[in-house]
Amino acid sequence: MKFGFFDDINKEYVITTPATPWPWINYLGNEDFFSLISNTAGGYAFYKDAKYRRLIRYRYNNVPMDNGGRYFYIKDGETIWSPGWKPVKTELDHYECRHGLSYTKITGAKEGLKAEVLFFVPLKSWCEIQKMTLHNTSSDIKKIKLFSFLEWCLWNAEDDQNNLQRNLNTGEVEIEGSTLYHKTEYRERRNHYAFYHVNAPVQGFDTDRESFVGLYNELSEPQAVLDGKPRNSHAHGWSPIASHYLEVELKPGEKKDLIFILGYVENPDDKKWESPKVINKKPARTLIQKYDSIQKVDRAFEALKDYWVALLDGFVLESGDEKLDRMVNIWNQYQCMVTFNLSRSASYFEVGIGRGMGFRDSNQDLIGFVHQIPERARERIIDIASTQFEDGGAYHQYQPLTKRGNDAIGGNFNDDPLWLILSTSEYIKETGDYSILDEMVPFDNDESLAKPHFEHLKASFYHVVNNLGPHGLPLIGRADWNDCLNLNCFSTDPNESFQTTGNKTGGKAESLMIAGLFVVYGREFVTLCRRIGKEQDAKEAQKYVDEMVEAVKHYGWDGEWFLRAYDYYGRKVGSKENEEGKIFIESQGWCGMAQIGKEEGLIEKALDSVKERLDCKYGIVLNNPAFTKYLIEYGEISSYPEGYKENAGIFCHNNPWIMIAETMIGRGEYAWNYYKKICPAYLEDISDLHRTEPYVYAQMIAGKDASKPGEAKNSWLTGTAAWNYYAVTRYILGIRPEYDGLRIDPCIPPDWKGFNVKRKLRGTTFYIKVENPKSVSKGVVKVVLDGKVIDQNLINTFDGGRHEVLVIMG
Ligand code: BGC
Ligand code: NOJ
Repeated sequence: MKFGFFDDINKEYVITTPATPWPWINYLGNEDFFSLISNTAGGYAFYKDAKYRRLIRYRYNNVPMDNGGRYFYIKDGETIWSPGWKPVKTELDHYECRHGLSYTKITGAKEGLKAEVLFFVPLKSWCEIQKMTLHNTSSDIKKIKLFSFLEWCLWNAEDDQNNLQRNLNTGEVEIEGSTLYHKTEYRERRNHYAFYHVNAPVQGFDTDRESFVGLYNELSEPQAVLDGKPRNSHAHGWSPIASHYLEVELKPGEKKDLIFILGYVENPDDKKWESPKVINKKPARTLIQKYDSIQKVDRAFEALKDYWVALLDGFVLESGDEKLDRMVNIWNQYQCMVTFNLSRSASYFEVGIGRGMGFRDSNQDLIGFVHQIPERARERIIDIASTQFEDGGAYHQYQPLTKRGNDAIGGNFNDDPLWLILSTSEYIKETGDYSILDEMVPFDNDESLAKPHFEHLKASFYHVVNNLGPHGLPLIGRADWNDCLNLNCFSTDPNESFQTTGNKTGGKAESLMIAGLFVVYGREFVTLCRRIGKEQDAKEAQKYVDEMVEAVKHYGWDGEWFLRAYDYYGRKVGSKENEEGKIFIESQGWCGMAQIGKEEGLIEKALDSVKERLDCKYGIVLNNPAFTKYLIEYGEISSYPEGYKENAGIFCHNNPWIMIAETMIGRGEYAWNYYKKICPAYLEDISDLHRTEPYVYAQMIAGKDASKPGEAKNSWLTGTAAWNYYAVTRYILGIRPEYDGLRIDPCIPPDWKGFNVKRKLRGTTFYIKVENPKSVSKGVVKVVLDGKVIDQNLINTFDGGRHEVLVIMG
């Protein structure tokens, strides 16, 4: 069942009923100022950091779901309604929500009045614009009462929820004409405030929640709205809000626009005050002025649209399959931008207080983003590397506002360092810019410890080498990519998190996943060393890579697939000898991509085992059989009921690792079928089962052992976005930047006739036409560049011009 449709021309998903199977959300803002907005206008905004600078209060996991946002109430006679249906939930004559690229347009209509609200964050601005267009479609004069509403969060979203004995005393506001200012804690250490403005005179306002809503009323029935009368309240402590009251008259057929602005302002310490106790509003007025007319707002909106047109122009696919095209050309790239911006911090599943920018997460996110804005990718790589320890280890996350690492969500994950080699090498392949390796980058944010970025990569590489276990395989530490395979934690206390509890010492648990990862990015490190003339470094590193390959062959092969690990006691994990969890996906993916034992046929065998044991209707599950009881020596993975999350869920992030490995052995059909199973556009028809948005990936789809296979959770902020984009563009379509140019090496289902791709790389545009006359999966027999046959499938003409490339498979 569907709840809307894709409008590819406008690059929008159009939701046609407000009661979607789960709030279907969108993101506004691309730098500094961000908003989350659901299809009923729920959500919140923040400046840079969803924990420390949250503007709107939002109550997660509430009843009803998705409570709080920026709401409008229209009182038209005795009828009260909201354009986005919620919170009033009066049945609308017409409802539509268009989620576009960094904007959302929600339209509601009731009894001859149409209200359309366009929400967006203009480029380079610290505000959310809400452009409301009211249209009287009836033949009578309409006199309506309009109330806006949002509730201020007292900045620190965590403290906001749990320190009530203080917080119910601190709220402060100022009111000036049509602008309602929120200045809680500004008198002390804060130099920032927020405001909510409308570009029309108001006939009233409210800034105190209780006065406006009523102590025992719901947000669906604020007393002020029921009475059609604002209270003109001035908040002192309790819960400050911002609500404008406007009386609007519309002649038959008449349209009126209103511009609401939710803004954030910072003042330097010496310019905080206008006069005693009165905040300096100058920057707010300047911001308001920037968007005080429809022309200005429309121009800003056009600029945002142009921004996205330009961004998406770097990779354009025409495959003949509209679902594939819309994912590759629009939605997957868009999701990659969002994950780049927010890592795992704020979504409808991540509450924006627990997790900042993940070391491994953000490095991986870059591979789906680097082609969009390489300069921002470079800056991010440096930010991440700056938090690294001198021994190559890493904080698991850093806070976006301070850019300082912390171990609030654990540490000692031994895969973390290697992902820095992935992001850096992808950046260089995209841009050809080796200078990043020379940039001086601090360790642990201490400038006195700064070394060239290359030394960070080296530290990453040797962090593995210096932490090997009894089989010569990498020690797992707290966990590897699979945060829940906690082989050293032995937790018996339900009051501690598996992610942060102390580990039992003396264990020698080793990871085959890190082993494969090390071979892949260890080789990459060797290549980089050679390219910058560090032959000695290359030679030494190669030796360790070769040793790892041997260790995997000797101790990592279980007969039909790769083992997953050795546990604390040195026993096999992910082996036919185990009762449950006999086979895991991650080591098949990484040892597969590393091509370990290819000549001996190990890869094909391992991938056949994946097909046989892990594949199901909705994707590839993480492990099989699922764990049916808690195993203290395995940790969190066995805490989940069967089929969910890391316990045999379809963890979409790792499915593309298998797709890539399949393309490496030429099985295009397999890779493609795996791709389609988890790709959201192909799941639109089963939205009622899938539940999360059909335009973005979810982290997890319930696996075959779950009570409801196919049901997804945790959409948006997941490495799934970057890895699927990477798998489909670089390996299935095979359009792959390398150090020396653009490789074209597709691996597709044999019945594909071909496809066209426009790809920009290093300032040059390539129009690539792939033809598959012999119905093969892989193999290129002829390449014609601008009419001339060339003898390789690597294009290395970077002259800033446009080139036509014909690629014949066979
Ligand atoms: C989840 C993991 C996640 C980890 C983050 C665990 O509860 O299952 O997917 O990576 O928390 O801290
Ligand atoms: C989600 C986390 O963000 C990611 O870092 C981790 O690798 C996966 N879960 C798997 O546990």
